[in-house]
Amino acid sequence: MNANIKKAEGKLGILVVGLNGAVSTTFIAGTIAVAQGKGVPVGSLTQLGTIRIGNRSENNFPKIKEFVPLADLNDIVFGGWDIRNETAYESVCYHKVLTREDADKVKDELNAIKPMKAVFDQKYVKKLEGTYVKTGTSKWDLLEQLRKDIRDFKTNNNLDRIVVVWCGSTEVYLMHHPDYDTVESFEKAIKESHDTIAPSMLYAYAALLEGCPFINGAPALTVDIPAIIKYANDHNLPIAGKDFKTGQTLMKTVIAPMLKTRMLGLSGWFSTNILGNRDGEVLDDPDSFKTKEVSKLSVIDSILQPELYPELYKDYYHKIRINYYPPKGDDKESWDNINIFGWLGYPMDIKINFLCRDSILAAPIVLDLVLFMDLAARAGMKGIQSWLSFYFKSPMHPEGKIAENDLFIQNMKMKNTLRKLMGEEPVDHLEEDDRNKA
Ligand SMILES: NC(=O)c1ccc[n+]([C@@H]2O[C@H](COP(=O)([O-])OP(=O)(O)OC[C@H]3O[C@@H](n4cnc5c(N)ncnc54)[C@H](O)[C@@H]3O)[C@@H](O)[C@H]2O)c1
Repeated sequence: MNANIKKAEGKLGILVVGLNGAVSTTFIAGTIAVAQGKGVPVGSLTQLGTIRIGNRSENNFPKIKEFVPLADLNDIVFGGWDIRNETAYESVCYHKVLTREDADKVKDELNAIKPMKAVFDQKYVKKLEGTYVKTGTSKWDLLEQLRKDIRDFKTNNNLDRIVVVWCGSTEVYLMHHPDYDTVESFEKAIKESHDTIAPSMLYAYAALLEGCPFINGAPALTVDIPAIIKYANDHNLPIAGKDFKTGQTLMKTVIAPMLKTRMLGLSGWFSTNILGNRDGEVLDDPDSFKTKEVSKLSVIDSILQPELYPELYKDYYHKIRINYYPPKGDDKESWDNINIFGWLGYPMDIKINFLCRDSILAAPIVLDLVLFMDLAARAGMKGIQSWLSFYFKSPMHPEGKIAENDLFIQNMKMKNTLRKLMGEEPVDHLEEDDRNKA
């Protein structure tokens, strides 16, 4: 055990922004069920994953949760904010991601989880109307109200630590602005209630001011601005984002590295999908879609590196469509048409038809992220946690550095970070024989 990591003692509070959403409630209901032995945490590395220590011949593969000190699921207390005044149980029933039978297994616990009033402004999410929202004299006033919520939640539940995670709706696209450049200009913009300050930024800043790590599961800027990154670095606080990597992008970050590893060319990639949940409705607004599109588009370029391989990737055409189609609900269906080429330029096609469940894929990611971010805070890891890029479509990365999008490199990076944290050697996948030959 690394003596520099504080133990995961006491209770861990998880504050979810967008508490009554499909992802949030699937995550919360599932985590409670798993903690009570009523469900299997499929998709969660922290719960099911193992990590190799030492040479392969040593045959030492402890579970990740036994190797690093993570919070116990029974020590978690859930809370959060939403613009809808519903219990978590009512929301689980509304979204129909989980069956009523599964929801009823944790009905009492879910009924006890109710949101606090949100900081919301329809200017930033045009398709929603907020009825359960805070009012304030300025954005700074709203920020202070969020800070008080966090403090009260900690005291009332006798918590040791808190992690805040954004699972709220995707806000409209915002460009970088000088207001975001420094902590001073950012605070001034909040005090003067500038339009550049989206609600998600207030939650993020409130979390950090209260000493809590913050995770951004949506593609909006939120914590990905110089002022907040600087604050997090200066105050030893971990931040992570953006946009949970679930269905179609997960597939992209597996297929694209395969093409590059085998030096196969790409002439076009068309991705489209239909989904009918509330997220789909929000993304039906062009300004929210733009935020998502930017997040999804960057992925292939950073993996294929067209500048290094112009013969293979210089001119490929990449198009992304998201279509709101209510009958599909949360059961998104996606299609990818990938035009590739091989030896002497001969063309081939790959077709993917993924019938997925958006929130079922997202829930274990939220669980892993909150547990790892709590670990990062206890280990004194500050600023952008790029070792968690494994979980994001558009990983935050320090200025001047390129984001890593290849799922398998991300996985290796994450596991080697955990090894380093615990004082073990990183694994380079060379066999002992090979190492001696080299
Ligand atoms: N499901 C996935 O696979 C996936 C993948 C990547 C990212 N995401 C992102 O995660 C987020 C949640 O997705 P979802 O399917 O649960 O959507 P959802 O619409 O079911 O949930 C979003 C919740 O946020 C609430 N909300 C909106 N603005 C808020 C505010 N300012 N304060 C508090 N609450 C607010 C809404 O009322 C709603 O309950 C979206 O931004 C989505 O793009 C989802």
